[in-house]
Amino acid sequence: MLNLAIIGAGEIARRHVNGFALLREKGLKGLQVRSIVDLNEENAKSLAKIIGGIQGFVPRIYTSTEKMLREESDVQAVYICVPHSEHHRVAIPCIEEGMHIFIEKPLGITMRAAWKIAKAAQNKGVVLAVAENFRRFLRYRLAKVVLDRLLIGVPRFAFWIDQKVFLDYWGWRHHKLMAGGGWTLDYGVHTVDILRFLLGEPYEVYAVTRLFEPQRIAGYERKIQSDVEDTMMSVIKFSNGIVVNWSWSDLCFNVNDEWNYIRLIYTSDGSMHLEKGFWIRSKRLFQPFDREDVVKNLLAMVSPKQRSEWFPLGFLGKNWDDVFAIELYDFIKAINGERKPEVDAMDGLRDQAVVFAVYESSVLNEPVRVEDVLNLKLEEYQKEINEKLSIS
Ligand SMILES: NC(=O)c1ccc[n+]([C@@H]2O[C@H](COP(=O)([O-])OP(=O)(O)OC[C@H]3O[C@@H](n4cnc5c(N)ncnc54)[C@H](O)[C@@H]3O)[C@@H](O)[C@H]2O)c1
Repeated sequence: MLNLAIIGAGEIARRHVNGFALLREKGLKGLQVRSIVDLNEENAKSLAKIIGGIQGFVPRIYTSTEKMLREESDVQAVYICVPHSEHHRVAIPCIEEGMHIFIEKPLGITMRAAWKIAKAAQNKGVVLAVAENFRRFLRYRLAKVVLDRLLIGVPRFAFWIDQKVFLDYWGWRHHKLMAGGGWTLDYGVHTVDILRFLLGEPYEVYAVTRLFEPQRIAGYERKIQSDVEDTMMSVIKFSNGIVVNWSWSDLCFNVNDEWNYIRLIYTSDGSMHLEKGFWIRSKRLFQPFDREDVVKNLLAMVSPKQRSEWFPLGFLGKNWDDVFAIELYDFIKAINGERKPEVDAMDGLRDQAVVFAVYESSVLNEPVRVEDVLNLKLEEYQKEINEKLSIS
């Protein structure tokens, strides 16, 4: 039996529990949630109740990780689902107790914090998996097949532009010392992970971030000051020559409050809309990712080994719950020593190095090399966080 603790019982932990429930439905009963830790006892209790309904007993509740570590002698793995400033504070003591770690993205609030977690896990020899659910959606797996098989030729350049109007206050996410940065980090680390998964390694970034509207709306007539960016524009160069224009803002008043996504990859023989499908220029043919025959043809090109890793137990990654189940299953396989986690510490570090290259480039007002951010040679933007959170 693999005993798990969940630390942080907020929004994302609830979603992971849906994945856990799906695995149980598939007959995978060798995993149970023994304890839940949250500073907010009510959050822990309500999640414990949901999990009790799934596994037949209610996990124990703790309001501090230290207490859980002192009192639980039979927990082998933790799911860490806390705000970014808490990742290293929570992960490192658990690693020191020999626990395997599944940690929400980004791995750390700064590169230095992320390295501390990664090195602790390496020294202790425990599994460290970084939560990257997006690449596990069917459409991104299919996109990878199309690109790897050169079905639309060689990738050249891409536009990844997310536009929204969102002026509300969203808690810790608006404070640099808790979040590390704004949406560029929070969601952008997923963006980078998908781009790396599909296109290869970025090596240089030129970017500008701006905070145009620091006042966030927090209920009737109440405003709270944000100190993270609300707008970002960047150019990312990849080692293989691909160039990506990645930008976002939540001050795009031409669109309504739904995100407007432009996620297009242009290639030598067509283009791909990551949410919709791909266009083959030479055949004048559009192949939608939601058409059964297209999915079937592309899936037939996936090797049996890859298939079993991408789509275990028949999950295709068609919805959020599927994706969380696949992610948890990947973590269990890694703990059992059957393979390394799909997104390991190095992937987590590389994903966030591109994001921090964006911030560093904006502060320095010049292009920066991702490698210099990865290797802690550039930390101008991150310095304040490292100092104030005592990350050395
Ligand atoms: N993969 C995704 O798609 C996705 C989506 C949302 C959030 N996330 C990530 O999940 C993490 C949590 O985000 P969220 O949206 O669930 O936040 P949240 O604010 O909804 O929940 C965080 C919970 O952690 C608790 N907490 C805070 N500090 C703690 C500590 N030191 N010890 C124990 N509990 C503590 C809070 O009380 C709260 O219940 C972040 O890393 C975030 O980036 C990932």
